[in-house]
Parts: sequence; C-alpha cells; structure tokens
Amino acid sequence: MTVAPRVDRSDTNPKEPTMILEETYTLANGVEIPKLGLGTWFIDDGDAAAAVRNAVSIGYRHIDTAQAYGNEAGVGDGIRTSGLARSELFVTTKLAAEIKTYDAAVAAIDESLSKLGLDYVDLMIIHSPQPWDAFGDEDRYFDGNRQAWRALEKAHNDGKLRAIGLSNFQAVDIDNIIEVATVAPTVNQILAHISNTPSELIEHSKANGMTVEAYSPIGHGELLRNPQLAEVAERYSVSVPQLCIRYVLQLGLVALPKTASPDHMRSNAAVDFEITADDMDTLQNIANIEHYGDASVFPVYSAADQTLERTQEIQMTDILKKTDQQTVDGPEEYFTGHVTIRGQFVRDEPSRVTGAVVTFEPGARTAWHTHPLGQTLVVIDGVGWTQIDGGPVQEFEAGDILLCPRDQRHWHGATTTSSMTHVAVQEHVDGTNVTWMQKVTDDEYVAGQADRRS
Ligand SMILES: NC(=O)c1ccc[n+]([C@@H]2O[C@H](COP(=O)([O-])OP(=O)(O)OC[C@H]3O[C@@H](n4cnc5c(N)ncnc54)[C@H](OP(=O)(O)O)[C@@H]3O)[C@@H](O)[C@H]2O)c1
Repeated sequence: MTVAPRVDRSDTNPKEPTMILEETYTLANGVEIPKLGLGTWFIDDGDAAAAVRNAVSIGYRHIDTAQAYGNEAGVGDGIRTSGLARSELFVTTKLAAEIKTYDAAVAAIDESLSKLGLDYVDLMIIHSPQPWDAFGDEDRYFDGNRQAWRALEKAHNDGKLRAIGLSNFQAVDIDNIIEVATVAPTVNQILAHISNTPSELIEHSKANGMTVEAYSPIGHGELLRNPQLAEVAERYSVSVPQLCIRYVLQLGLVALPKTASPDHMRSNAAVDFEITADDMDTLQNIANIEHYGDASVFPVYSAADQTLERTQEIQMTDILKKTDQQTVDGPEEYFTGHVTIRGQFVRDEPSRVTGAVVTFEPGARTAWHTHPLGQTLVVIDGVGWTQIDGGPVQEFEAGDILLCPRDQRHWHGATTTSSMTHVAVQEHVDGTNVTWMQKVTDDEYVAGQADRRS
C-alpha cells in the first residue's frame, strides 16, 4: 500500500476531510493501517458497495467488515469497483465468534476471501473470544481460540492475510493466545468511546504489541444524545461525532465510525483539531452510557451495561473532587445566615438527579420547602436541627442520614452553636427539585431547643 507522507497539522483547515485519511499507524509486523476506517455494521449487503465507493472517493482507505455483518460480498464489490488499486485499500474482516475449531476456521477464512472476491485481506481478527450467546460467561473458550488462531496463522503464512488479530479479547484471552502464538496478534478491536475508555485493557493490548482499534466510537449513536458532549463540541465548533472520533484518535487508537451517508463520511474525516488535555480528562470521566437503546440486546453493549454501577460511583467521586473548589454562597432568599454550597453535580439520564455539599454556619438554616420526590441528606460534619411541619424540632449529627419525605414541608440547618455539613441528593420532576416557601423565623428555629437525644 502506498503510504502518504505525514502532514504538518499547523496550517490545515479543520473542515477539510483530507488530513486524517492520509495518516497511518504501523502494526507490529510493519503493515501500515489507516488511522480512520469506515465501520460497516448495519449497512445492508445491497448498499455496501455504494457506501464503500463513496467512502473511497471521499478519501477513506480503510474498511471494516465481518462475516457476521452479512455484507462481505457488497463490501468486496465496492473495493473491486472503487477505481483504486487493491494495494491502496486496507480491508478488515472478522472470523465469526462462534467458530472455535481449526477446521471450521480454515473453511470460514476461505469463504470470506471468496465472498469478498479478494486474493487477500489486510487484517482478519477473531470477532470475540466467546460465541455471542456465551458472551461474558465463565468459559473463556481457551482451546477454541487457540484453534482459531492456528487457522489464522496458517492463512497468514499462506499470504491470504497480511495481518491477524483479535477483537473483544480481555487480558486473560490475550495471554492465552500470546502463550502459543507463532504469529503475534497485531490488533485488539474493542469497545472504546467517550465515557467508556477501558484504559487497563488498552495498556495490556499495547504491552503485548497490539494496536488498539476503537469500535462504536460514537457509542453506536447514543453519544449523539448527550447534552454535555454537545456543549463541549460547540466550544470547539465541531459536531459531536467529530469530537468522538477525535477523542479516540488522540488516545492513539484506530477510529471506526460507521455511516452510509457521504455527508457524515466527509464530516467524520474533518477532525483536524486538538482536544485539550483537560477536556480529554473530562470526556474520559463523563457518566457512561446507561443504555445503548435498541442495541442493548447485543452482547458487546450489555456487558458494558453490567460495569455501569461501579463506573458511575467512581465518576461521581471524580466530579465531586473537580467541582469542590467552586464554593458559592447559598442564595439569601432561600437561606437564613451563612450557607455555602460546593461540589455540585448533575446526572441527566435516565432522570435528572442533582446533589451538592452544603455547609451551614451556626444559626444558619433553609427556608421552609418541599421536594416533589423527597431528598436524602447524608450528614458529614457537625450538628444540626430539622423539623417537619407540625412536628418537633429534632437534632441530628455527623453520620446520620435524613430522608426528607416527598412533598412534606420542612426545614433543616445548623444548631445555634455548631456548624453542620451535609451532602444533599435529590431527583427532579419537570426540571424542579424544590419549592421554596417563607423563611424560618427565629422563634420557630429555637422552638423547644430541639428534642435532644439522650
Ligand atoms: N468488533 C466488534 O465486536 C464490533 C462491535 C461493534 C462495532 N464494530 C465496528 O465498529 C463500527 C462502528 O461502530 P457502530 O456501528 O456500533 O457505531 P458508531 O460508529 O459508534 O455509531 C454509528 C451511528 O452514528 C451515526 N453517525 C455516524 N456519523 C454521524 C454523523 N457525522 N452525524 C450524525 N450521525 C452519525 C450513524 O448514523 P448514519 O449511519 O445515519 O450516519 C450510526 O447511527 C461498526 O460499524 C463495526 O465496523 C465492531
């Protein structure tokens, strides 16, 4: 394949879809792989040839297909009728996840070449270490993957495959291949996108000599719905897909966005801008996609869903740390005395949840108010008082958790002699989480001096 020279980025036009399409990584075996490829999952066989020809005419030189996509024939047709020499194009296909014996793999590799109508493919990878209906099971199919690998090695040695590799392989699955490989895997193609960056797996793959390819760089389209990303993209005057693609490229990964639309192909390749280190960090830590919509039925996404709970916990901690510095005074109309708010956070999907760390100096308290869905207060410092309308004033202290019932008028704050800090978390209804009422008078505040605990 002819390799275009690397171009100085400094005076390029970020709207032109040319620069990135000419850039390549070098695989461990010396084969050049274009950094940006066209994903073809969900492009029908009948539409695939036109999509490939359009992509090639825009400047794409790398096409990603798979036996499982059912469009190898169309993709091959597009390659052969693209007007470019075969050597100018980089074609990847994938050995079906269910094929875990040597003989079946040998036959399937030949079938791919025959469907594609090509003498060789540039890269063939095992689609998944486990058959899809066993994805995430304990059985890692170690022996079956070694058999499939041996078939890929043979086809590689026979000149049918220029490079061979893996997809969806976790560290143990990689190690299983590395231990016996006579031809080293050059690639691991994995789910990687803004909000889901499997850093340890990326590092393990790289440490074993592999280039990492990011599939679903736009989160299978789900990232298009994230308002936080829209804000970041607007700051750079780019689209969300451009931000997503640039993000994985800046991590040093191959980007494989899927589209059959020539307009999208063009704009997806206009990514000649730089995301700052701070923004890369922010994008890495934004809340994960909670649900990949209709695509959640596919094992690659349901496995990602399963790790969500832990990921969200970590990300919420990160957000608190980052916003901790931004301390603001509680608005006077809602509070009496000095109240400060910091560590504010917002989670928008599937419903809006907000929270903050709130500190009340001695004598400070909220006005009377209600929450449509209630509120949880985790008291982390000092001593406070609270009262539900009609009830006694009660005292609480660090370590207590207060569950403020939905729609019940109440107030809370510090005591007259101690400050009090709590973390407040509440869900919103139609954008509202609180209805504020009149202030708590001094008489109401000290009434009964609280129902002290013994
Ligand atoms: N190895 C694996 O197990 C594995 C798994 C999944 C995917 N993959 C590979 O990775 C490729 C990409 O992943 P993916 O298909 O899941 O999703 P993706 O590329 O993350 O997202 C594709 C979605 O984004 C939309 N889109 C793309 N560019 C756009 C633009 N400029 N403006 C607006 N919308 C845009 C597409 O719609 P339009 O088509 O309307 O543009 C489509 O709905 C696949 O096609 C496949 O080749 C591999």
